[in-house]
Amino acid sequence: MKTTSNHVPMQKVALSLTTALGARDEYTRRHSDRVVQISVDLGRQIDLSEDELGMLALGAQFHDIGKIGIPDNVLRKPAAFEQIEWECMKQHAEIGERIILAINGEISPTLARTVRHHHEHFDGSGYPDGLRGTEIPLYSRIISLCDSYDAMTATRPYHRPREHRTVMDILAGEGGRKHDPDLLHAFCAVIEKSPMRAPNA
Ligand SMILES: [Fe+2]
Repeated sequence: MKTTSNHVPMQKVALSLTTALGARDEYTRRHSDRVVQISVDLGRQIDLSEDELGMLALGAQFHDIGKIGIPDNVLRKPAAFEQIEWECMKQHAEIGERIILAINGEISPTLARTVRHHHEHFDGSGYPDGLRGTEIPLYSRIISLCDSYDAMTATRPYHRPREHRTVMDILAGEGGRKHDPDLLHAFCAVIEKSPMRAPNA
């Protein structure tokens, strides 16, 4: 089991932090749980090792942990964001990185990097650093894809859940732009067999 420098298992730290996140924002906690499941299935599909899958699962669990630091008027806004609110929400990637680095465990640097870059886009148009292609850490590219699928198929105050085939069409259009095309290909196979697959109307 991966441990922090104080020998507290990282999984216990993850449970504590995600409980804290759930107290602020129950939707994001549940979303993170679903992203873990889809990400690990995708990681298995591309033959990651058990150690790598463990790291990926923690990265997925923590990916939105920085939302703890986003003010309620943005985090809980039941409508689409204004530009200034988007700029505020974008900070969650870097806040999350700082939270993970503060754990100061053996695997914190890798996890922190995963969290920082989970909103980068394959064509360089994402944030916070505009990384492109394989400059973006593999775990971040996996989480980004699974995050997008779950966000679009979930019920939110400002949009109804989209059906599976609609989301797959959107993702297909984003291959090579927002998402890694090779991972997207593997994702298509994984999601069809997943309990996380959304229904079609
Ligand atoms: Fe995020």
